[in-house]
Amino acid sequence: MHVAQNKKMKLFDVYPLYDVTPVSAKGIEVIDDKSQTYLDFYGGHAVISIGHTHPHYVKRLKDQLDKLGFYSNSVKNPLQEELAVKLGRLSGCDDYNLFMCNSGAEANENALKMASFHTERSRVISFKNSFHGRTSAAVAATDNPKINAPINRQQKVTFLPFNDLDAFQKEIEKGDVCAVILEAIQGVGGLDEPSSEFYRNIATLCKTNNVVLIADEVQSGFGRSGKFFGFQHHGIRPDIISIAKGMGNGFPVGGILIHESIKASYGLLGTTFGGNHLACAATLAVLEVLENEQLIENAAKIEPYFRGLATEIPQIKRVKGRGLMLGLEFDFEVADLRKRLIHKQHLFTGGAKDKHVLRVLPALNITENHIDIFFNALKTELA
Ligand SMILES: Cc1ncc(COP(=O)(O)O)c(C=O)c1O
Repeated sequence: MHVAQNKKMKLFDVYPLYDVTPVSAKGIEVIDDKSQTYLDFYGGHAVISIGHTHPHYVKRLKDQLDKLGFYSNSVKNPLQEELAVKLGRLSGCDDYNLFMCNSGAEANENALKMASFHTERSRVISFKNSFHGRTSAAVAATDNPKINAPINRQQKVTFLPFNDLDAFQKEIEKGDVCAVILEAIQGVGGLDEPSSEFYRNIATLCKTNNVVLIADEVQSGFGRSGKFFGFQHHGIRPDIISIAKGMGNGFPVGGILIHESIKASYGLLGTTFGGNHLACAATLAVLEVLENEQLIENAAKIEPYFRGLATEIPQIKRVKGRGLMLGLEFDFEVADLRKRLIHKQHLFTGGAKDKHVLRVLPALNITENHIDIFFNALKTELA
């Protein structure tokens, strides 16, 4: 093959980047290559759960790397079992079994696949504005035609609005549905949630129609909503729960919790990297810190403080979400405000599919003092 001289490989240009280059971080502070400190109210897409470079997390990963970084799922890995037990206890989901993978999309891919194996059906019910990832079945269940290629459009998915029980009942009773997948609090979509009544009714209709209910907790899980899982605000029990993001505090790890009524068999699911020793060490460290530092309680406690300060800003129409998965809805598009918050106030925040929503997704050990700084910065930029 002929290679042009002086040709250098470039990056496949899919990300519009902010002109910031972080080189180190601690807690909710991120420091760039010019020694400028930023406060991180975004956690890199809701990933940083226990704070950047938490000392317990760093030590556990370093210790594990010194011992054994990786072996595949062909030998025993007691760390996976330790993790399953601890996760079951802290989340109140002891009656589920754990399968580990590497990302949120992969978690939903496996969840949808399990639902299809279990029911021997293939149509999926998903909801308007949902986001479930970019792989085959996960992206087909994502309400965004722009990121669905023709190959993905072969999947049978029906998108319904939240809270329209009649429409839901009509669809599920057609008898060809394998799974209903939903986010208890929509992340990328813009922090909308179903009512408890709707969520409970769809859980009941899933049971009576033998359809697998999948709770996508990739973003809302691991304490972010102020409870371990977002669906726990509604008193329901899904059949499969998908997890990722905050689970590894930056280490790429995901998984599904499968209710024990759904049986496993050898070879049904599999992965080379999923559940490796480093991923387990990262997740165990996250669970230990969540428990020891009572971070889920902190997420629940900070929410009313945040909401209280938000009422002082007239441009904020509404505060959406729960715990530390929050969105501020303005009556203007927030892209420019986000830029000013980064470059002038040195604060990272997030956007959403709903362009009027500014997303706030900090680490769960954030303090009231940080929230004061956030609102003072916002006031300055809105003055
Ligand atoms: C609710 C939800 N599900 C799934 C995903 C996909 O996760 P990943 O980017 O790790 O594949 C995301 C990512 O934003 C998400 O918010």
